[in-house]
Amino acid sequence: MDFKLTEEHIMIRDAARDFAKNELLAGVIERDEKQEFPKEQIKKMGELGFLGMMVSPEYGGGGMDTVAYVLAMEEISKIDASASVVMSVNNSLVCWGLEKFGNEEQKQKYLTKLATGESIGAFCLSEPEAGSDATSQRTTAIEKDDHYLLNGTKNWITNGSTADYYIVIAQTHKEKKHKGINAFIVEKGMEGFEIGPKEQKLGIRGSDTHSLNFNDVKVPKENRIGEDGFGFKFAMKTLSGGRIGIAAQALGIAAGAYELAREYSKVRKAFGTEIMNHQAIAFKLADMHTSIEAARHLVMKAACDKDNGENYDLSGAMAKLFASKTAMDVTIEAVQVHGGNGYVKEYHVERLMRDAKITQIYEGTSEIQKIVISRSILRD
Ligand code: CAA
Repeated sequence: MDFKLTEEHIMIRDAARDFAKNELLAGVIERDEKQEFPKEQIKKMGELGFLGMMVSPEYGGGGMDTVAYVLAMEEISKIDASASVVMSVNNSLVCWGLEKFGNEEQKQKYLTKLATGESIGAFCLSEPEAGSDATSQRTTAIEKDDHYLLNGTKNWITNGSTADYYIVIAQTHKEKKHKGINAFIVEKGMEGFEIGPKEQKLGIRGSDTHSLNFNDVKVPKENRIGEDGFGFKFAMKTLSGGRIGIAAQALGIAAGAYELAREYSKVRKAFGTEIMNHQAIAFKLADMHTSIEAARHLVMKAACDKDNGENYDLSGAMAKLFASKTAMDVTIEAVQVHGGNGYVKEYHVERLMRDAKITQIYEGTSEIQKIVISRSILRD
């Protein structure tokens, strides 16, 4: 496989790298400490086109491919995984699904604002009892006159309070199980829509995670995405692409931690020499580099599959499974290479280690990826 990047890819990667270094790095430790959303930075990311990268220019997007998107995701994630999860949710889980399955009115009304970052989106599938088991939706959307009446609770919603538009998955016809599920566009401020308290998290603390309550929210019928009963497939198809974005995030977290560890090993001295001259450290760096390269190949393969119109359920799940494990392993080792300094905030690697863990949980845990992979290799 030859993943030769075009000039445009390189330009986008470099622009994301510069943005991360110049705009995200300075306050990243403080935002993590205070659980502060990177509001100004996300606004600039919108202006630079990072929030609607794959959306067609007709709707205000960048018209780029998935390869460009994963390159940018990796660079942003090296520095600030809280900013990159906002980017990932907006690009993959909100804009992509709306462009692919929304109707023209929905695209004009919502996508044009989401693609430019003028508005931010959230994707609401998980519930207190339906995280991995996505068919067990308790949130209901009952058809009534010209609207659906939405009731229920959603949990762990990224962009929970900062979003303007929420894609909400809910059960309309209980007896039809997953075939009775629908997806709706819900606007912030609709009567009966309440945003719950902010979650206190281990990692990606700058991102904004909330539970949401819907109490008799009247959602206009025209806000349903696709045909009646399409919601589960909509969610699964959207998440398949989302997993490529999170795999790229995990890759970026790993690469960021590795680069810090490598540079530290060149300056830190122990036993009379730079620690890179000790095999105990050099071998760690060799392992880290090798896993990151392997993860990068899987991420690129999944992105290319998507761009080439191939099925990417399997390659996306493999990329996410492997890259998220790599992120965990590499960040732990990066802390180890830093020794006592690794445990201290100013060296960044402890934050990257905390951030890495979520990549094994959201948009399908590692166990869910193994379900997707094993079904694919055993049944296809
Ligand atoms: N594309 C299209 N259709 C798909 C699909 C896909 N990738 N995966 C499943 N389907 C379809 C199946 O074909 C089937 O349709 P038919 O009945 O017409 O044949 C239907 O969906 C049901 O499929 P399954 O029987 O495979 O469903 P299941 O109940 O066994 O679940 C699962 C499969 C893979 C475990 C799924 O439930 C899943 O992905 N769970 C994890 C959900 C998840 O990722 N949650 C994270 C929340 S979002 C998040 O984290 C956002 C954030 O803020 C960062």
